[in-house]
Amino acid sequence: MQALVCEAYGPPETLKLRDMPIPQPGDGEIQIRVHCSGLNFPDSLIIENKYQFKPELPFAPGSELAGTVTAVGPGVDRFVIGDRVSALTSWGGFAEYAVANAQLATRVPETMDLETAGVFTCAYGTVYHALKQRARLQPGETVLALGASGGIGLATVEIAKAMGARVIAAASSDEKLAIAKAHGADELVNYKTHNLKDAVKQLTGKHGVDVISDPVGDALSEPAFRTMAWEGRHLVIGFAAGAIPAIPLNLTLLKGASIMGVFWGDFVVRTPAENHANMDELYELHAQGKLKPHISARYPLADGGKAIRAIMEGKVTGRAAILCNAENG
Ligand SMILES: NC(=O)c1ccc[n+]([C@@H]2O[C@H](COP(=O)([O-])OP(=O)(O)OC[C@H]3O[C@@H](n4cnc5c(N)ncnc54)[C@H](OP(=O)(O)O)[C@@H]3O)[C@@H](O)[C@H]2O)c1
Repeated sequence: MQALVCEAYGPPETLKLRDMPIPQPGDGEIQIRVHCSGLNFPDSLIIENKYQFKPELPFAPGSELAGTVTAVGPGVDRFVIGDRVSALTSWGGFAEYAVANAQLATRVPETMDLETAGVFTCAYGTVYHALKQRARLQPGETVLALGASGGIGLATVEIAKAMGARVIAAASSDEKLAIAKAHGADELVNYKTHNLKDAVKQLTGKHGVDVISDPVGDALSEPAFRTMAWEGRHLVIGFAAGAIPAIPLNLTLLKGASIMGVFWGDFVVRTPAENHANMDELYELHAQGKLKPHISARYPLADGGKAIRAIMEGKVTGRAAILCNAENG
């Protein structure tokens, strides 16, 4: 099979298309013929050895995918050959075939095509867990989505709207904000041309923001936190801008507010039944037309490095799809 392989840690331009043996499923694993692998920010980190997972070289990046089950390992009773599934792999998704832990896979309903399924699980699964289990978002509350045109950001806009919230989308350009608007954002803040704190305070008045979805970090987190409502929740999701900010703890006291870590990957492993229930609810919201994943770019497997370069430069809006078998590309 063909795989886009990292043979030595380095920038995305060093990835190479290689012939590799088809991976075989071990205990509790399934083998999947990959239709589409969703590009995620950690793909840019893992190839440079900057991520928490450090696979043995050579390996293919690609942490989520969707395709068809082609073999089932011992002990797997949830899937049979031919099932359409989406799965999390940590790495190995940028290939024609991959193996995945069956516990980290879900059956894709007929209402969703495999390209959408390949980019759906990670962003939507993370945000739903963040808003539902962590922030316990209530209808009528206000959500501030930072990086609102990115994978996490757009999923925040759509899911928060579906949960009955008012959504303020914040991003670095008017083009990016137009995408967030098209996906349901109520109000928009361009934090390149406007002061984030002042603009959000103007929109939310005395009350402030109930929940902040923060996949960006760095210089945005503190001004965002300063717009917080009483008993607000700041969801720490990621640090796409690079630097990990330090927020003065007195701000939490003054607002009776919480800073909440979100680690969806661990939630999936620790509480698989809860995650499967979340995914079923997300598939249902998608079937109802309330979630519309935005695939802004499609790349054949050979060009996966170009996709990683684009996400490193903050140029991917919504999701990018890697089409892993030639007939899909
Ligand atoms: N905690 C979890 O369980 C979990 C799960 C999934 C992902 N994540 C993390 O969430 C973060 C965002 O993921 P994503 O899929 O939303 O990424 P994305 O699609 O690339 O979006 C990130 C956004 O961050 C902003 N940004 C600011 N500085 C940037 C820079 N130097 N490079 C790239 N983007 C920059 C950009 O928006 P503007 O230009 O509008 O500022 C961009 O749209 C990543 O760190 C990822 O690892 C965490």
